[in-house]
Amino acid sequence: MLPTSLNSAVSAKNISAKEHWESVYSSRPIEGVSWFRPHLEISFAAMVRAIAAQSLSPATASILDVGGGASTLIDDLLEYGCRSVTVLDIAPSALEAARLRLGTQAALVHWLCADILDPATALPTVDIWHDRAVFHFLVEPPDRERYISALRASLRIGGHLVLSTFGPEGPERCSGLPTRRYSHSSLARELGAGFTLLDGHTSIHQTPSGATQQFTTAHLRRNS
Ligand SMILES: C[S@@+](CC[C@H](N)C(=O)[O-])C[C@H]1O[C@@H](n2cnc3c(N)ncnc32)[C@H](O)[C@@H]1O
Repeated sequence: MLPTSLNSAVSAKNISAKEHWESVYSSRPIEGVSWFRPHLEISFAAMVRAIAAQSLSPATASILDVGGGASTLIDDLLEYGCRSVTVLDIAPSALEAARLRLGTQAALVHWLCADILDPATALPTVDIWHDRAVFHFLVEPPDRERYISALRASLRIGGHLVLSTFGPEGPERCSGLPTRRYSHSSLARELGAGFTLLDGHTSIHQTPSGATQQFTTAHLRRNS
């Protein structure tokens, strides 16, 4: 959690989202942030299925990890042979941490420091869109509309979406921000017509401090 003074500043919208996430990342080591996992196993497994379901190879599947931060998902995707991956995040220090960790392999990744809600952000056209723990921070309907516009601009028709948010029993706040909680079906409903739910997974994430958080992961296909 952030210090109370920073929480109030965020809720009063006195600081930008970029400043907020930079403060969160500067407040503790990468392995100490509440969402840290050594590997994003559930996301990775769903993405492997998404590659196969589209008859793509790891090398040819184009992937966008939205709010990828410093997570090791990119390490695992590179290890699997993925060579067309964009990691987008609003916090430059998170992307820098991932780049440093990857060393020379970082050159195989497209790094995009940008706000997914900014309509000016130029997004690649992709076969797979992944988001773990960004969408649930969008508590205002206009922000969800901006996100879904970005999604529809980037994910090709027939492409797959792996979206992971807090579950119905997940926390109501995280990193000093309010969250929305979803079941698989409410996530699918939120995205609107044009997306079919293929699979859903409920899991319990243990934070580095020992707390537990329920997550919902939905695997969907864009049909129109
Ligand atoms: C809770 S963390 C999850 C990080 C990573 N997906 C994971 O599961 O380890 C949320 C991430 O989203 C990024 N983020 C938040 N709002 C964003 C926005 N509007 N555009 C792009 N990135 C954003 C944050 O900087 C942070 O890295």
